[in-house]
Amino acid sequence: MDAASPHDLAPGVLPDAPQDIGTDAVRDVLTGLTRRDVMIAGGACAAGTSLALDASAQVPSPRPPASQEKLVATSQVTLTVNGQPQTLVLDNRTSLLDALREHLRLTGTKKGCDHGQCGACTVLLDGRRINSCLTLAVLHDGASVTTIEGLGTPEKLHPLQAAFIKHDGYQCGYCTPGQICSASAVLQEIKAGVPSHVTADLNVRPLLSAEELRERMSGNICRCGAYSNIIDAITEVAGRPA
Ligand code: FES
Ligand code: FES
Repeated sequence: MDAASPHDLAPGVLPDAPQDIGTDAVRDVLTGLTRRDVMIAGGACAAGTSLALDASAQVPSPRPPASQEKLVATSQVTLTVNGQPQTLVLDNRTSLLDALREHLRLTGTKKGCDHGQCGACTVLLDGRRINSCLTLAVLHDGASVTTIEGLGTPEKLHPLQAAFIKHDGYQCGYCTPGQICSASAVLQEIKAGVPSHVTADLNVRPLLSAEELRERMSGNICRCGAYSNIIDAITEVAGRPA
């Protein structure tokens, strides 16, 4: 019996092998495409994809519409930072921390978590400690800010800075500016009689105990775990032997 012609096969059914026609020929019959057609189509697709990629790479990123640019509200803010008057024009969303670090280049104040959880960004605002990452600079127009650069200098260390060195109150040092700013405020708080969570009697001045210091410094995290030495340093500056 004669071999079936490809034209006699149902669609999708290949003839039994061996046959006198190749699989390319069968595919051509089933699809109506020749090998040459497929090669030309593949080349065109590849070229088209390449052109599309080139074109997209050259498309400039869209500028925000002028109406959106105007939505970035700015304010002029005047601060006294480490005794120096500073006037800045800031995006209203700028944190006090970013104003200090990015605009005034006072990089002694550190950004740890940027979420109020580590205390690395602690500065003194009008004499009280604050996490500078949690507040907007525009809220403090006219305020006085003290950073670690304003507490002491390499030539004239603040007593807490000297005590941290003496007692090895740091390892990597990343948390240290915040620790020292916070500790200076803690000593003022105790002196002023401000109670803490562990103050037993609210009618008497808080004690300068290690328990009080640990509680008051609990917002300042030290990943190096220098806590006991930090307490020793603060205790010495507070006037008690470590
Ligand atoms: S950076 Fe502000 S609390 Fe961590
Ligand atoms: S000294 Fe390294 S995090 Fe405190």
